[in-house]
Amino acid sequence: MSKILVIVGATGQQGGSIVDTVLADPELRQGYTIRGTSRDPSSPSAKALAAKGVQVVPADFSDPNSLQRALAGAHVVFGNTTTIYDGHTYEHEVSHGRALVDAAVAAGVPWYIYSTLPNIAKNSNGVLKHGGHFDGKEEVEQYIRTLPIRSAFIAPGSFMSNFHETMTPRAMGDGTYALASFVTPETQLPLINAAGDTGKWVAAILADFAKYEGKVLCCATALYSFTEIAETMSRVSGKTVVYRQLPEQVWRGFLPPLMVDFIADMLKSFQNYGYYGEGTEEKVRWSAEQARGELTTLEKYLQDHPLHLE
Ligand SMILES: NC(=O)c1ccc[n+]([C@@H]2O[C@H](COP(=O)([O-])OP(=O)(O)OC[C@H]3O[C@@H](n4cnc5c(N)ncnc54)[C@H](OP(=O)(O)O)[C@@H]3O)[C@@H](O)[C@H]2O)c1
Ligand SMILES: *[C@@H]1O[C@H](CO)[C@@H](O)[C@H](O)[C@H]1NC(C)=O
Repeated sequence: MSKILVIVGATGQQGGSIVDTVLADPELRQGYTIRGTSRDPSSPSAKALAAKGVQVVPADFSDPNSLQRALAGAHVVFGNTTTIYDGHTYEHEVSHGRALVDAAVAAGVPWYIYSTLPNIAKNSNGVLKHGGHFDGKEEVEQYIRTLPIRSAFIAPGSFMSNFHETMTPRAMGDGTYALASFVTPETQLPLINAAGDTGKWVAAILADFAKYEGKVLCCATALYSFTEIAETMSRVSGKTVVYRQLPEQVWRGFLPPLMVDFIADMLKSFQNYGYYGEGTEEKVRWSAEQARGELTTLEKYLQDHPLHLE
């Protein structure tokens, strides 16, 4: 008999990657029936999910009863909470993350996979104070470890899709482009094709939960420095893209006020302590080996999703 896998946030891009990976994997497809949650099962994205054979049920992080109903009878739950930048980022993360796992425990779910992140305050020994959703997720991870539910964790790296959004190279007016931030060019980001590859780590856990119990898979194809990222962008686009290190005050002017302190401390933590803290390199290398399926390099990602440099 197939077991129920509940994916919270199945209508999102990353939740969608997990749905698609499980459906395309003959062994997992046979083993699991997928249930996905949405705040609105009548929305177009929820209907598209149902058309793939996913059972769509309503659930909202702010309504514990809806969560408990959505998780009833599940064998495994994949839990992830959304980040809200409204001045209470950390508080939302912790309360939503706890509500979700509390509902899983109350529903008697045996296995839980949680999308966590590294704790910036801890990795910096308290120097960086704006860990926001990073710190909130890691605190929820520690809370989960105290509960009567068996757990495994994924900690996604920085999204390759950011290079099309907030981190896109800007035209310099002389035919060249600048990828700009305030950290050193040697600062490394663990890059993930989130919409394409997240499911490959979740699939690895689903296929052998005991092997990964209590572990954190640091999900990224590899670490790339800002210099390497700019070089890859140049090579793939045929244009000149260079990394430009700006003074922090100049860089801050480009970001929304409710977000800027969080992004600044996040980047400082990557520069000074490593994205995943101590042992970042080894964590990324080991985790990449665990993925079920081939991972997308930045080069391949940029070939498939060209930057709009004009
Ligand atoms: N690390 C990075 O580099 C990075 C990091 C973060 C973010 N991104 C950002 O992440 C976003 C990508 O998001 P995505 O489209 O993949 O969506 P997502 O954040 O993966 O998915 C959001 C999901 O959460 C559900 N949801 C939202 N609020 C909820 C609530 N109160 N209760 C229950 N469920 C709720 C939504 O479902 P319903 O709407 O169906 O309810 C949806 O399925 C982009 O905006 C991107 O900029 C980048
Ligand atoms: C979890 O939610 C955050 C915030 O909405 C999103 O950026 C991230 O991609 C999601 N991660 C996974 C693994 O679903």
